[in-house]
Amino acid sequence: MQSNTSAENHALRVEAQPIGLFETPIAYGRLKDADTVMRELEEVIRKRKTVSKGLSRSNLGGWHSESDMLEWGGPAAQRLAEAAVKIAKRMSHFKESSTEDRQWIVRMWANVTPAGGLNLLHSHPGNLWAAVLYIDMGHEKEQDPGDAGGNFYLEDPRFSMAAMRDTAFRIRGIDGQPQQYQTEIQLQRGNLIMFPAWLRHEVRTHTGNRERITIAMNIDAVSKDVNL
Ligand SMILES: [Fe+2]
Repeated sequence: MQSNTSAENHALRVEAQPIGLFETPIAYGRLKDADTVMRELEEVIRKRKTVSKGLSRSNLGGWHSESDMLEWGGPAAQRLAEAAVKIAKRMSHFKESSTEDRQWIVRMWANVTPAGGLNLLHSHPGNLWAAVLYIDMGHEKEQDPGDAGGNFYLEDPRFSMAAMRDTAFRIRGIDGQPQQYQTEIQLQRGNLIMFPAWLRHEVRTHTGNRERITIAMNIDAVSKDVNL
């Protein structure tokens, strides 16, 4: 009897480990051996900017081209679209069919952002994937990239569920670290990032000493029966 009582007074021990569920995959990479392509893209964007007023979307300040860059972007834009579709296919699965059974559609546009420009929090409805290629970060090499602003933020798609009970509350991830509602990704010239089109994101104010140039893409896939 004595030994039972002492066992009951011990704290229960549980062997437990967290399991991460419902991942949000992000493709993050760098174009390889692409200096020529990058130069061609920059040239064609600067040229287009002189003849097109552009659009107003999530951008505050700066020039946002029409989303028909594949019409005027030349072979470099075509090659970029092909590379992006390849990544999108790798990250996609369709029940009972193959990624090759779909028609892949890319809408592409350029952003030229002067100091003070930014992109408000937004998503890209009506698409499967969204991607951005960084052509020019808009600051001199000797300038600390941290001083150039323009950081790219992704918002946790579960926001604000965890914060509804207590705004100070954070769930620890399987790495033991508290999960933040927004994640910042550090990007450099030549980086390509691709994420689900529904994932909200924003670009903070660019404070570099030159214009920043990026190319954005919307990527979708539809049945081959659909007439485009
Ligand atoms: Fe965007």
